[in-house]
Amino acid sequence: MKAKVLVIGANGQLGSVLVKELQHRHGLDNVVASDINKSHNFHGAFEVLDATDKTQLLEVVESYGITQIYHLAAILSAKGEANPLTTWDLNMKMLFNVLEVARVQEMDKVFFPSSIAVFGEDAPWVNTPNKAYLNPATVYGMSKAAGEQWAQYYFLRYGLDVRSLRYPGVIGYQSLPGGGTTDYAVEIFHKAVLEEEFVCFLNEDTTLPMIFMDDAIRATMELMEAPKRDIKIRTAYNLAGSSFSPEDIVREIRKFYPDFMVKYEPDFRQDIAAKWPKSINDDEAALDWGWKPEYDLEIIVSTMIEKLKEQYVPQQ
Ligand code: SER
Repeated sequence: MKAKVLVIGANGQLGSVLVKELQHRHGLDNVVASDINKSHNFHGAFEVLDATDKTQLLEVVESYGITQIYHLAAILSAKGEANPLTTWDLNMKMLFNVLEVARVQEMDKVFFPSSIAVFGEDAPWVNTPNKAYLNPATVYGMSKAAGEQWAQYYFLRYGLDVRSLRYPGVIGYQSLPGGGTTDYAVEIFHKAVLEEEFVCFLNEDTTLPMIFMDDAIRATMELMEAPKRDIKIRTAYNLAGSSFSPEDIVREIRKFYPDFMVKYEPDFRQDIAAKWPKSINDDEAALDWGWKPEYDLEIIVSTMIEKLKEQYVPQQ
């Protein structure tokens, strides 16, 4: 049977790129993009969907005969701290609705993204293993850590094929992130290409795990297309790309823009970043479904600059 895929949170940083990849793989007619915000630039089906509303979700699922959901909507780490209870409510409600609708409709697969935000001060900071202790310090991290357990529960209890990755910060030229602690690592490239000063909300030496968009999308596809028997971890897989700090990025950017100016004004996001791992061990992903990142800092920086320059050059 052909897959019919629903993407929730399609207008987000990852969603907007993932929808296009899914359309490429499954065909334009077999992917339904959805988001709470109606403005979008997708070809193919699009639905305005508030995933906290289970009835609305079920209606969309039934009307298109959806067999797979990629649930990407969430309030991220930095934005989530402004309203802790609302963040918890929204993130958990949307996940429960997705899991329940998928269970009742006997769906083939569900993708639920987790994050490096599940880790806290008690996990090893360097080369953090998949099985490290989880004591997240943000509500977003708490919702992801709990969400991972629920994903596993739905698999064990109901046999629902839920798969999950702990994404590092995602860096891409195609879209902008919103509300995260790793967002600086995208904004910095826009400022560099526009030849403007960048004000960084993290300290210069704050090393965090990051991944290039193309690697993040490929990892998602490889996880979701792997044979079911190969998926040994039903909470979430650690996923690594490359780890670096703001000063590492600046050093690389200055190879292209020697006069690039950066000012460091760390805010509350520095405290969030300080409790996250510096690097991630993704041996399980490599072993179980063959994960291998392709982009290191040097290639990320040269690709970001090249692609953003194209975007910012006025079209003739
Ligand atoms: N990029 C996310 C954030 O910063 C981490 O999952 O919140």
